[in-house]
Amino acid sequence: MTEITIMGTGAMAMLMGGRLAKRGVKVHFLGTWKESIAAVNKEGICVIEDGSPRYYPAEAFLDPAQLRGTSLALVLVKSWQTERAARQLSEVLAEDGVALTLQNGLGNGETLGAVLGQDRTALGVTTYGATSLGPGKVRPGGEGIISVGEHPKISALINLLQLGGFTVQQTEDLSGLIWGKLVINVAINPLTGLLGVKNGELLESPAVTRLMGMAAREAAEVARKLGVPISFSDPAQAAETVAAATRENLSSMLQDIRRGAPTEIDALCGAVVRQGKKLGVPTPVNEILALLIQGKVDLSRKEE
Ligand code: PAF
Repeated sequence: MTEITIMGTGAMAMLMGGRLAKRGVKVHFLGTWKESIAAVNKEGICVIEDGSPRYYPAEAFLDPAQLRGTSLALVLVKSWQTERAARQLSEVLAEDGVALTLQNGLGNGETLGAVLGQDRTALGVTTYGATSLGPGKVRPGGEGIISVGEHPKISALINLLQLGGFTVQQTEDLSGLIWGKLVINVAINPLTGLLGVKNGELLESPAVTRLMGMAAREAAEVARKLGVPISFSDPAQAAETVAAATRENLSSMLQDIRRGAPTEIDALCGAVVRQGKKLGVPTPVNEILALLIQGKVDLSRKEE
């Protein structure tokens, strides 16, 4: 039986794990969310589709020592957890194994590569959506695509993801896709988090839609200055298209804020601001969005 280790126990981890387990893949999770680990071990992965729950068997662990010798891994932790995931993976991943990151934000590949080596680190992005409905429980948020960069060991992971029913494409220009996703994320995620609205609701206020466009354009300008070709010519329009296509989704940042978890703002707007400073590209909207999210998180902590 084919096996995979999934780093993370959040919404995307459950979506991918659930679809793989459904096709008979032996799925192991390694994470830090104790309630999610307990739920998976008790009932399996719970995927809510068309309003009804389906359960798929899997095992979940807090301790990496239980998973030594893993050949294939997916990294689906939040960007601020990548360093911890890299250290744990260095304990479990076999010498000839490979880990594929499909996380949001900039810098995850570098962090994993520094610990695991480039020969065990593969990069990708995904446009699949997933909403966490509690520990071990997920509602798929619309079909998407998984794009992976070239890597000598990537074919086993591609085959496995395709077996799980995912659409996978291999691309030479992964940095363009990573930046393209970043442009969308800086436009949608902070504003949904700040305003407490679904992605589609951002389009119901011309003022908010304008702010989305400003954030998207700043990030796209940084990418252009870096020489990274992104696939769309109008960043504001691209962000609006994704917000409309994922109308009913709660963005990952809104989900993080609602459950009191740290957000990925530093790997999104924070990364755009840092790169912008290096390249002399002004990014005031991204900077303000990052500060507002930080402020919101600080103040909600005070309320607890
Ligand atoms: O982070 C997210 O929530 C997603 O990347 C996206 C595309 C904004 C859809 O909700």
